[in-house]
Amino acid sequence: MIKAGVIGYPISHSLSPKLHGYLLQKYKIDGQYKAIEIKPENLEQEFDRLINEGYAGFNVTVPHKEKVFEITQKKGYKISSLAQAIKAVNTIYVDKNNVINATNSDAFGFYENLRIKSNNFKLLNSSPSKSAIVLGAGGAANAIVYNLIANCQFEKIYILNRTKEKALKLANYYENYFVKNKLSGNNIIEAIDEITPKIGAAASMLVNTTSLGMKNQPELNINLTHLNKYAVIYDIVYNPLFTNLLKNAQERGNPIITGIGMLIYQAFEGFEKWFGVKPQLNNEEFEELTKILLSK
Ligand code: ATR
Repeated sequence: MIKAGVIGYPISHSLSPKLHGYLLQKYKIDGQYKAIEIKPENLEQEFDRLINEGYAGFNVTVPHKEKVFEITQKKGYKISSLAQAIKAVNTIYVDKNNVINATNSDAFGFYENLRIKSNNFKLLNSSPSKSAIVLGAGGAANAIVYNLIANCQFEKIYILNRTKEKALKLANYYENYFVKNKLSGNNIIEAIDEITPKIGAAASMLVNTTSLGMKNQPELNINLTHLNKYAVIYDIVYNPLFTNLLKNAQERGNPIITGIGMLIYQAFEGFEKWFGVKPQLNNEEFEELTKILLSK
């Protein structure tokens, strides 16, 4: 039996076992995917233990993503360029040569959900320019800003965060990163205090990367007055599926993207590496899985 799982602390809230359980059943694979609680102080030894026990790999969730990046760096494991850019790891897998690989599939999950739901980005092209507004500057924002530039080719990113210093730091990091790595030369990434009429009129997307609006979290309060009606509003929060942000967006007539797809698609990379099957879901299966994930 192929073994995989998710490590975090706490871990009981994780939806990954349900998600992978669904895929294992769909493809009739003899495998298991368990939630494994690991305290921060035991992380490195538990990491080694799972590998020694023959795990094909595992997902990494809060609060271990950055620390696992450091561990894999220290041990000289193979780290994908994406995980190196983000400095956070959410997927570990042992490849056929027995090499331990570390990567980050959050960015792919974000991208794939956006690509599918925006009809291969056609929706985003209806707006005047390729600029995006990112709410938040934490770990999720990090993966998303990277993706918006590297994969979605946004020219301008505006980051709006409660703590402006963090927005400035993230903006600076990626402005330098893309130039240094010759990935792109002329992106503008700016920390902003509000959505001004000029920024709002030009944006083709606004994405909430904070946990605000999630069940048991405070609401996200954001003034959308100046945002044009074509801008796609994407919330990475998936519980509830229709957050207040998305409801407001719908009332104003903006297209919306819910966060459940990001959760579902980020799981695919690990699943393929561990269990050897590249998952594919039709619309019906996607809806069925969404229901399973959001049921108690
Ligand atoms: P994640 O890895 O999920 O992105 P994180 O790194 O802790 O989590 O980042 C959380 C983000 O939500 C941050 O941008 C944070 O803003 P600060 O940088 O000011 O902390 C934002 N956030 C969390 N709670 C918030 C609140 N009550 N009001 C405004 N922003 C909040």
